Parts: sequence; C-alpha cells; structure tokens
Amino acid sequence: MEQTIERKKRIFSGMQPSGELTLGNYLGALKNWIKLQDEYDCMYAVMDMHAITVRQDPAELRRRSLDVLKQYMACGVDPEKSILFIQSHVPAHAELAWVLSCNTQMGELSRMTQFKDKSRKHADNINAGLFTYPVLMASDILLYQADLVPVGNDQLQHIEITRDVAERFNHRYSDTFTVPEPFIGKSGARVMSLQSPENKMSKSDPNPNGFILMLDTEDVIIKKFKRAVTDSDSEIRAGEDKPGITNLLTIYAAVSGKTVDEAAKEFSGMGYGTFKQAVGEAVAAELAPVRKRFDELSKDKAYVEEVYTKGAEMASRIAAKTLRKVYKKVGFIGR
Ligand code: TRP
Repeated sequence: MEQTIERKKRIFSGMQPSGELTLGNYLGALKNWIKLQDEYDCMYAVMDMHAITVRQDPAELRRRSLDVLKQYMACGVDPEKSILFIQSHVPAHAELAWVLSCNTQMGELSRMTQFKDKSRKHADNINAGLFTYPVLMASDILLYQADLVPVGNDQLQHIEITRDVAERFNHRYSDTFTVPEPFIGKSGARVMSLQSPENKMSKSDPNPNGFILMLDTEDVIIKKFKRAVTDSDSEIRAGEDKPGITNLLTIYAAVSGKTVDEAAKEFSGMGYGTFKQAVGEAVAAELAPVRKRFDELSKDKAYVEEVYTKGAEMASRIAAKTLRKVYKKVGFIGR
C-alpha cells in the first residue's frame, strides 16, 4: 500500500533576550506562535548569540535567556509540540554562519537598516558581529530548512537577505537550502507605545509608562493603561488622526479576539476613563495566567532544563544534516 506522508511545513522564529518581553512581543508574536503549533512543525529559539552584538551584562543575559524561554512556555509554546531551544546550545549556528559569511557581500550587509540604526545607537561599539548579524540570522533559518519565518516588519529585510544568500548558494553549489518566506500573521497586532503612540511599544522606551511588560502585575498594567495618552476630543474610534485611541482599540481587539470595528462599537459613547480602565482590565486578565505559569516554571528549574536540553538535542540533529551537506558542497573533507 502506498502511503503519502505529507511533511508539515517548518516554522522557525526566535527573540533576542536583550530585554524584558512586552505586550508587543506577546500580541505581535507569541500569541501567533502558539496558534501555529498544530498545523506546522515549529521551532522557537532564544537568540542569545544575537544578543551579544550589543554589550550585555553576563549575569543579566543568563537570567533573561531563561526568562524568555520560560515566557515562551508560559504563553503556551508546548515542548511536546514544538522544538524549544537556546541558540548557543547548537554550535551549528556559528559553523554555518562562517560558511555563509563567505557567501555574503559587504555591500549587501551595508544596506541593512537595522545595522545603520544600531550603529547610530551604539556608536561606541560598532563591532563586526553587529555587521554580520544577518548572516547569523540566515544560518538560524537555513539550518533547519524552514519554510516560513514569522517576524515583524522590522525583520523583513533580514528575511530578504536570507533568501538571497540561500538562492545564491543553491545556484553556486546545487540545491541545498529551502528558500524561506516571511510569515506575517493576520492577527499579529502592531502594538504602539502608550505614551507616544506614533512609536512601536519598546522596552527601551525611557518612559516605563509607555510599555507593558508581559510579567507586569495586574495593578501596574491597569495603572499604565489609565495613564495612556489619548487626544483632546472624546470620540472612541480608530483613525490616523487618533493614534492613541487606535492603539488602545487595537490592543483590546487583539486580546478579546474581536475586530477593531467591533471594539470601537462596544465602547462608542463611553468616556476615555472608562474605556482605558476596560482595556487595562482585559489585558491584565489575559496576562495573569501567563505570569502565574511563569512563576510555576521558575520554581521548577529541573523541568525547564530538561526542556531546553532536549530541544537542543533535537535541533542539533536537524542542523547536523544541513551542515554536513554544506561542508561537503563547499569542499571540506568529511570527518
Ligand atoms: N533578529 C530577530 C529580532 O531581533 C531575532 C532573530 C534572530 C530571528 N534569528 C532569527 C527571528 C531567526 C526569526 C528567525 O527580532
């Protein structure tokens, strides 16, 4: 009997443990990752090697790497369904990055807007890793032959260069890599700062009232929403002329599973105070179980360790296959 086993498409994504995760990471990425787990073969990693392109305090980095992993799990990334691991635990990322860096042009890397932004921001530490960052990212993705990469808009240029590098390698050395596509989830909300809604919500906002951390307590969350900037009229509707209200409606919609229009209808005619309170409560209710699960995981070090150890083993096995092929094709002698 003939059997057709259809391979599920593979998804790869990850976040850098370079700061605390925010509501933006949750609504924009994590919530989506969880939904993808049944339909796809998902791999989610903590990108600690990327994080050291800017200076990190070693003890803090160690803590945050584990915290990020635990937050993936607390949100519902399930180690029984997805491969969860820490980037530096799989040496093949660095090994492939070397080969790919010899197949990437300086000119291509100089065009990366993130490199230009980060060089401006960290003018005292424009290191070579910051420059070759996209090559490491290409390695993350290509090692696992990922078909789809869920990322935010700010990472699209990195996916584009990953595709270029893969296509070039395939052309030069014969078919080796799956050429990945960016995966922009329909429901991935773009969450803006609560204090300056024309900017993306970011943990590096100097005003802590601008962002909600995934692990903020309910009181803090509600207080920050109460302080969110609105505008001088009193109409609850979305629109380009109303960035603050639009952001709150977007957040509410993402949390409640409603559309922005439905959310606007629900609050129409209400005062801003009541509206902000309601959004704050909805977000607090959504994040409370995440924080609870995070606390439980924090008490169970052995389990967390088991998850990332097994994850790295599984990831290494897949990565080794690709790396072996690559080494052979470029002319290295097999070991
Ligand atoms: N550069 C990504 C970011 O800053 C993180 C990242 C590193 C990543 N490697 C990746 C995301 C591979 C997706 C796939 O958000």
